[in-house]
Amino acid sequence: MQQITIEPVSRIEGHASIRLFLDEDGRVQDARFQVNQFRGFEQFMVGRPFFEMPALTARTCGICPVSHELASAKACDQLLAVTIPAVAAKLRRLLNLAQLIQSHALSFFYLTAPDLLLGMDHPPETRNFFGLAAIDPQFARDGIRLRQFGQQVIERLAGRRVHPSWVAPGGVNSPLSAPAREAMLAELPEIISLIQAHLNRFKQTLDRHQEHIRVFAHFPSLFLGLTNEAGTLEHYDGRLRFINADGAPVADDLDPGAYQQAIGEAVEPWTYLKSTYYLPHGYPQGMYRVGPLARLNLADRCGTELADQHLALFRALASGPALSTFHAHYARLIETLYAAEQIERLLAEPDILDQRVRAVAGVNNLEGVGIAEAPRGTLIHHYKVNEDGLIEWVNLIIATGHNNLAMQRGILQAAQHFLDNATLHEGLLNRIEAVIRTFDPCLACSTHAVGAMPLTIELIGPDGSLIDRIRR
Ligand code: MG
Ligand code: NI
Repeated sequence: MQQITIEPVSRIEGHASIRLFLDEDGRVQDARFQVNQFRGFEQFMVGRPFFEMPALTARTCGICPVSHELASAKACDQLLAVTIPAVAAKLRRLLNLAQLIQSHALSFFYLTAPDLLLGMDHPPETRNFFGLAAIDPQFARDGIRLRQFGQQVIERLAGRRVHPSWVAPGGVNSPLSAPAREAMLAELPEIISLIQAHLNRFKQTLDRHQEHIRVFAHFPSLFLGLTNEAGTLEHYDGRLRFINADGAPVADDLDPGAYQQAIGEAVEPWTYLKSTYYLPHGYPQGMYRVGPLARLNLADRCGTELADQHLALFRALASGPALSTFHAHYARLIETLYAAEQIERLLAEPDILDQRVRAVAGVNNLEGVGIAEAPRGTLIHHYKVNEDGLIEWVNLIIATGHNNLAMQRGILQAAQHFLDNATLHEGLLNRIEAVIRTFDPCLACSTHAVGAMPLTIELIGPDGSLIDRIRR
């Protein structure tokens, strides 16, 4: 069997490789996305005091510290057996929404827009954010502005941009100040109109991307995400919902603490990244997707005025759920708009400046599960502790693990469509990487590696020999 390996995948974070297996006729018959590095983080945590977990797990990833901190703190709230103050939950929500904006802005403006606006075959030396800035400085400025807004909200709440230790078991460490609230409120009208402008511009480019829409991880699957009691978009709390490719719930209103009844984790010998699957459907038939596409597919509505107007148009893309992961870009922009509207709404709430922001207690439960929606999808932290509050067991399930099966399938689909004559060429590599970027995976989380690392693509022949190999 022939095989192709692609390395590195640029513009995604982490260390991984792709192998494409060819049959006798040079057609792609299988694709593997493999994560090559592992630091054993779950084992490393054993023996630590539980209250260190939000800050410690935040350090596992330079890309998603806020998401880990929130899921971790929620697991710790359960160990304490407390209901956190209402304002603390609102402040945590604000932090999560700010993280969503800065992360989605990074994904769309910095990592994806060069492909969309310059073209997949644009020379790679300038097919990047700087190349884009040279031809459309306003677009680049808007992307920088949006990301900066999200980062500033995080700073105004938590005091530090990277690895804030403001979220704590039982709530948060300090209340919001009136001047910080006013400063954020003053910026929101501009931010909201900026996002709307880019949403409208993006929609006008969809016609040019029909081929990508057709083959960028476009297939039926289940979708997983959180929803709340109203059935609206939810990123911080709520219950788990799985829908099928027709949009019908296959599991709804699931207690996050019972995630193991619905989610299985499969281990493959060729990668360190586990593949999760919907347990009742088995492996690998239980493939599902998480993240912006899944969340918009499974929520009844966004719950904010402007985002819901755009969601109505998004829904018109397909008769049921949008099945092409290319549309995750579109979903990401709608969620960004939702997040800005929701931040404005939360900041206007009369109790948002309340001073009592943390419930204090000792260990009252020996097990806790915290679930939140990270920008790239559902994040699960599950801890068991002893009577002294020392960690005995940890399970983390990250968004990239939930999406692992669908990413592999998406890579296979794109490779089958774009590979000619069993040769690796730059345009093919970029398209395969672009499929991966639609999922916005965090390979730093997947490997618990610090910082960005490269990826390889290898082409493997029917006899197992290496035909070609590319590293950026
Ligand atoms: Mg795990
Ligand atoms: Ni991460």
